[in-house]
Amino acid sequence: MYACFDTAWRIFHTALSLWANFSRGTQIKDSTETRYNRALVTESDTMPFDPTSPEFKRDPYPIYAELRAHTPIFYDDALGMWVVSRHEDVSALLRDRRLGRSIQHIRTRAELGLPPKDPRYAPFDRLSENSMFDKEPPDHTRLRGLVHKAFTPRRIESLRAQIQATADALLDAAAARDSIDLLEDFAVPLPVAVIAELLGVPEADRHKLRPWSADIVAMYELNHTPAQADRAIQAAGEFSDYLRHLAAQRLRDPQNDLITALATVEEAGEMLTEDELVSTCVLLLNAGHEATVNVMGNGMWALFRHPDQLALLRSNPAAHAAGAVEEMMRYDTPLQLFRRWVLEDMDWRGAAFRQGQQVALLFGSANRDEQTFPNADQLDITRTENPHISFSLGIHFCLGAPLARLELQTALATLMRRLPTMRLDYEPHFRDSYVIRGLKDLIVSYDQVMR
Ligand code: HEM
Repeated sequence: MYACFDTAWRIFHTALSLWANFSRGTQIKDSTETRYNRALVTESDTMPFDPTSPEFKRDPYPIYAELRAHTPIFYDDALGMWVVSRHEDVSALLRDRRLGRSIQHIRTRAELGLPPKDPRYAPFDRLSENSMFDKEPPDHTRLRGLVHKAFTPRRIESLRAQIQATADALLDAAAARDSIDLLEDFAVPLPVAVIAELLGVPEADRHKLRPWSADIVAMYELNHTPAQADRAIQAAGEFSDYLRHLAAQRLRDPQNDLITALATVEEAGEMLTEDELVSTCVLLLNAGHEATVNVMGNGMWALFRHPDQLALLRSNPAAHAAGAVEEMMRYDTPLQLFRRWVLEDMDWRGAAFRQGQQVALLFGSANRDEQTFPNADQLDITRTENPHISFSLGIHFCLGAPLARLELQTALATLMRRLPTMRLDYEPHFRDSYVIRGLKDLIVSYDQVMR
């Protein structure tokens, strides 16, 4: 979408539109907060934000710092969205009910000037249309309430022993070698096994989950290709058929698993429809491992680059694992950006958000905001105040946060205890994606695997 030449054009065009906004009085200013007294128009004549640039994808944090300092809120013409980078704005906007994950409950596509849906996307659209992730109240409230009733704290706690046993089994297997890929041999199989076990996906079918999920979540990137879209449509269709079949089996022959619980859950006479059940299972299976894998990968790489913090964690994994997990989530955020629709006209610090526009909230940037996190560019596993927003805020706050924390803390403490001599073999590479930030691999070697 954006070649090199386009970058120059974008810079010019964005500066022009910012100037236009400025002239119309929509520059970011707030008389009560000096941080916002800077003009929105770029102080240099460049707009550094280009989420398609390989350099940016490799390390977005210096650019985020520039945005927070000079253009904390701006309209990006190339993206066709507002972009918001400071922690105080992102966290307030996530809680603001004038924004929503979906707008289709109040405006049709035609009213928004969007073309009719392409029927080729039907399997993918059917999943989104029935998922709480893409719903607003009252549908969101009903769906989330039903899922919450089935996905109880007791059910999560019952997974503790399985999580520990899976982590140990993966490291037992590593004992036969002196080097592993921390991602493929540990960080991926652990959460996939846990979420599959929780839902009740038979072991023989589990190998299909990760490829289906990877194909579907590629659609959340800002600039997915037609080939990625084709793969996502195919995966959405296959995954849905598989789960429809599995849910029907569970209704005939109930088991003690989450699919059965979701298929039968009832609240005030309401139940999940078949489409909602399928969408919820796909959401849980995908959300239930994608980000967890990347917290582990990005976080371990960060620890290798901060040997003092790694040594501290190793010195007492039980005491530091919880703090380390929160800091890993903050320091290199696995989900960098979430969008919201503007549901009603509103002014935000002088920027005119208009109904039907979209706002890109930069989670990765918010989590490095110096105003909220002293020494934000330092990994510090002993941080006592850590209001990171990696699990989001507001009504869409991550439903799986307690499970993710349990998995990550167990995995990290087990790694530290059993691979005390683990060292990085070479600098890893990031995958070619932006919204979902994660490594391709993380090869480590070690002298021994402790019992
Ligand atoms: C470290 C791992 C995880 C991270 C960083 C993460 C992050 C997030 C974020 C940022 C959102 C909200 C997006 C928004 O506001 O637009 C979300 C929603 C959600 N997450 Fe997670 N998640 C993680 C693990 C999990 C797990 C393990 C599960 C399930 C087992 C899960 C299930 C969900 C669900 C169902 C939602 C939708 C909630 C709603 O729309 O009301 N997540 N997650």
